[in-house]
Amino acid sequence: MQEAGILGLGCYLPLKKITNADLEKTVETSDEWITTRTGIKERRIADKDVAASDLGAEAAKIAIKDAALNSEDIDLIITATITPDMAFPATACIIQDKIGAKNAAAFDINAACSGFVFAIVTAQQFVNMGLYSNVLVIGTEKLSSIVDWKDRYTCVLFGDGAGACVVGRSKDRKILSSFMGADGSGGHLLSVPAGGSRLPATESTVKDRLHFLKMEGNEVFKIAVRIMVDAANKAIKKAGLGPDDISLFIPHQANIRILMAVAKRLGVPKEKIFMNIEKYGNMSAASTAVALAEASSENRIKKGDNVVLVAFGGGLTYGAVVIKW
Ligand code: COA
Repeated sequence: MQEAGILGLGCYLPLKKITNADLEKTVETSDEWITTRTGIKERRIADKDVAASDLGAEAAKIAIKDAALNSEDIDLIITATITPDMAFPATACIIQDKIGAKNAAAFDINAACSGFVFAIVTAQQFVNMGLYSNVLVIGTEKLSSIVDWKDRYTCVLFGDGAGACVVGRSKDRKILSSFMGADGSGGHLLSVPAGGSRLPATESTVKDRLHFLKMEGNEVFKIAVRIMVDAANKAIKKAGLGPDDISLFIPHQANIRILMAVAKRLGVPKEKIFMNIEKYGNMSAASTAVALAEASSENRIKKGDNVVLVAFGGGLTYGAVVIKW
């Protein structure tokens, strides 16, 4: 068995920002409500002609450079997204072409906001078994393309962005343990109802706004706290550690109140919870990807630190990874 670790990291955020004040002009909301209920101040929005693969390719190039590799060294690309460029081909294949990773196999995974965590765990297995050496893992989303900008309940929460890492043989930034879970009975709590084989696009699905993201926020909130704590604790225990041994938790950025409740239940100070939700909102699979890259570039992690990536999302899905820096 090989040892898998993180060889390089990168992220890419579109430049355009939508602030809470901007949203006050389009839906009945206020900066005060959004800030106190969610912790979000602004979110990034990609241009109309930009797709998830464009954002993902930019993040990927930075991660490959950070790993001191070339695109041709990548032998597998796993892209986590719920906003693929199209139903198929896979966004990973489109990115493969864009970055010239001609020696790589490529596929997507859909685990919503847990996607980047699930993709890292998947990459780790391929590296551990010796099947692939340099696996490019990308979390990329253009959530602005599935957000209903007339729905104040959801449109204030989400943003666009991408993060990436290269997983390969390494004793540094080593993946110590992981946990993944799912509860399909909660799938209806967070979904885009139409556009698949159940409800293909028709005039009426468009008229009924069924191609936009729907969410039962209160229910998701309650479950989120419980399953993030459970996933983190399970992964930490598998690594033979306790919550006090963790220097930094990098959680999925859905709501600052969820993050504070998670810190309390884990029994860790809030300073140990990495947060960038204020700047970007919830970017689904890209959230933990961008947060990991930023935590590293902002020197929030020192050599020898134990770090936990933890996420939950539509599916429902949940998972955590422990990495020793
Ligand atoms: N601006 C102003 N008021 C708003 C609003 C907005 N953008 N959105 C909702 N409200 C109103 C509601 O209509 C409601 O009004 P009412 O009391 O008159 O009916 C009131 O605010 C409270 O609504 P509620 O749903 O109880 O708010 P909340 O405190 O639960 O916050 C969420 C709503 C969505 C922010 C919160 O439930 C949440 O973050 N849930 C988890 C979402 C999540 O994590 N999703 C992603 C999973 S990966």
